[in-house]
Amino acid sequence: MTEPLLSVHNVQVQFGGGRVRAVDTVSLEVGVGEVLALVGESGCGKTTLIRSIIGLEPLAAGTITVDGEQVTSNARGLRALRRKVQMIFQDPSGALNPRHTIGDAVTEGLRIHKVDGDSDALAAAALAEAGLRPPERFLHRFPHEVSGGQRQRVLIAGAMALKPKLLLADEPVASLDASIRGEILALMRSYVDRDGVSIIAVTHDLGLAWNIADRVAVMYLGRIVEIGPAEEVLRDPQHPYTRALLSVVPEIEGMEQQILVGETPDPSRVPSGCRFHPRCPVLASGEAERLGIADRCRGVDLELEPEVAPHRVACHAVQVQISR
Ligand SMILES: Nc1ncnc2c1ncn2[C@@H]1O[C@H](COP(=O)(O)OP(=O)(O)O)[C@@H](O)[C@H]1O
Ligand SMILES: [Mg+2]
Repeated sequence: MTEPLLSVHNVQVQFGGGRVRAVDTVSLEVGVGEVLALVGESGCGKTTLIRSIIGLEPLAAGTITVDGEQVTSNARGLRALRRKVQMIFQDPSGALNPRHTIGDAVTEGLRIHKVDGDSDALAAAALAEAGLRPPERFLHRFPHEVSGGQRQRVLIAGAMALKPKLLLADEPVASLDASIRGEILALMRSYVDRDGVSIIAVTHDLGLAWNIADRVAVMYLGRIVEIGPAEEVLRDPQHPYTRALLSVVPEIEGMEQQILVGETPDPSRVPSGCRFHPRCPVLASGEAERLGIADRCRGVDLELEPEVAPHRVACHAVQVQISR
């Protein structure tokens, strides 16, 4: 990979004075024109991680650089960053002011960032690019007068009008009807293919990652436990957690369903050893014992394998099987 657009290095984000380790030592890179899907159950730290990339969460440790510039959460750094990084939040209805027209919603960002040119014309062009055609039909309407899918297109238009290099999309289609999710993902992908923008798309739905991502990163309890090319991670998942997530995706056939047992993870009480061990089927089934690694699973914390291959996993069982 040439110089990555985004570089996240050993980042930690904590709440409650360090009690809640929402993001607990994460490193990842995103290249120019690349789409990374960030997946994992609710509460695993996905939103916190992408908020930190746009400077909304102070880091307890680590560094983040975008396009060669280090992300800081002070006001000046944030302004400069916003032209390069845009974020689409989870709920398109909450993100739009009900009393502002769709035209205003898009021109507002252009004005705040003092983008050169006729902001009305730029807004119309951005709406048309986002599939709201003809844009004149949408400029003077209010958010409640259009559909949920169209509202999401308005938010995408507003973000993309600023020509960011990186788009962070937090569950961009979670609130939409299944029938239009594909269209919105295809729209996001079109900016990648045409303009070379990079995207991190957060989702708790692994099925969606198939549709949009070049690479997939799987998060568990504040940490990335598996990362790699989408094809590889989704066709040949290595981490028992990824396997369990995939086994319940309806579109994926031929995997035995694995319902995860145990308590839902709590970032204020991260288990010792491998943080997944209390719920891990490899340990529960006795396979870890047979591999002679059960004590390691319970006692030795681990991060992703060193970066020798694009597909990497943080699992004692996988690592011991590879080294044999
Ligand atoms: N502002 C906050 N104060 C305290 N805890 C928080 C805050 N934001 C998030 N958390 C906690 O951090 C963890 C990760 O949250 P989040 O990043 O929203 O996860 P996800 O997006 O994967 O569902 C959760 O346990 C959540 O309760
Ligand atoms: Mg979230």
